[in-house]
Amino acid sequence: MTTPYRSEIRLPLDDPAAQRDVIALGYRREGIARGAGPERQDMSVWARLADDPEGPAPRVLPDLPGGELTDGVVRVRPLRPEDLEGWYQLRSLPEVVATSVPPEAPPRAEVERLFAYAEGRWLAGEAAAMSIVDARSGSFAGQIALYYFQPHHREGMLGYGVLPAFRGRGYARRAVELVTRWAFNEVRLRRVVAGTAADNIGSQKTLQRAGFEVEARQIGMLPAPGGGRIDSVLYVRRRL
Ligand SMILES: CC(C)(COP(=O)(O)OP(=O)(O)OC[C@H]1O[C@@H](n2cnc3c(N)ncnc32)[C@H](O)[C@@H]1OP(=O)(O)O)[C@@H](O)C(=O)NCCC(=O)NCCS
Repeated sequence: MTTPYRSEIRLPLDDPAAQRDVIALGYRREGIARGAGPERQDMSVWARLADDPEGPAPRVLPDLPGGELTDGVVRVRPLRPEDLEGWYQLRSLPEVVATSVPPEAPPRAEVERLFAYAEGRWLAGEAAAMSIVDARSGSFAGQIALYYFQPHHREGMLGYGVLPAFRGRGYARRAVELVTRWAFNEVRLRRVVAGTAADNIGSQKTLQRAGFEVEARQIGMLPAPGGGRIDSVLYVRRRL
C-alpha cells in the first residue's frame, strides 16, 4: 500500500492536547474548517505532506521558557481557568472597552470561548494570550497578548490591560518589557508594535517607559465606542 502524499486531521479548537500530539508528528496548521465538526462546530485543520521534514512541526510561537516570564515582581503566563473571572471583570471596565476592538464589553460566553481556544491559538501561531499575575500574592492583575498578524514582516502586536487595584505600580510596563524580550529572543520577531487611542496617555507612557517610540499616527484607525472612528498613535520597538 502506498502512503498518501497528504494526510489531514481536523481537531476541535478547544483540544490543545490533541493539537500538541499532531504537532509532535509533524502536522502543520492550515486554518479553520467552519462548521465542519460533528455538531457543526469549527475545527482546526492540520496536515502533513509526505515530503515534509521528519520530526515535530516548527512552532511559530514557542511555549514560554519554564512556563512563565517573570522579573520577580510580576509573572506573565498562559491563561488558566482561575483567571477567567478577573479577565471578565477587566474586559467589562468602560476604559478597557473604550480601547478594545470592537469597543464592546464581551458577553461572558465569549470570554469562556476565548479561554477555551487560547492555547489552540497559541499552538496555531496566531496569538499568545497571557495573564499578568502579582508575583507576591499570585493574584490575577491583568492581561497581555502578543498577536502575530504579520509573520512575513516578523512583526507582532501587543494588547494589554491592568485591573484598577494594580495600576500605578509599573505592572503594565514590566509585562510589556517581559513579553517584548521574549518576542525578540524566542519568537525571533524584528518588530513589536502597539496601537494606542490618541488620548490614551497612560498606555502611551507605559510604552515609552518600556523602550518603544512613536512610529505613526494612524488616522481613523480605531472604532470609537459611540460610533465613528478615532486616531491611533502607533508605537514600535525594534530588535536591532
Ligand atoms: C494603561 C494601563 C495598562 C497602565 O497600566 P499600569 O500598570 O497602571 O501602568 P504602569 O504602572 O506600568 O505605568 C507605566 C508608566 O505610565 C504612567 N501612567 C500609567 N497610567 C497613567 C495615566 N493614566 N496617566 C498618566 N501616566 C500614566 C506611569 O506613571 C508610568 O510612568 P513612570 O514610570 O514614568 O511613572 C492601565 O491604565 C489600563 O489597563 N488602562 C485601560 C486599558 C488600556 O488602556 N489598555 C491599553 C490599550 S493600548
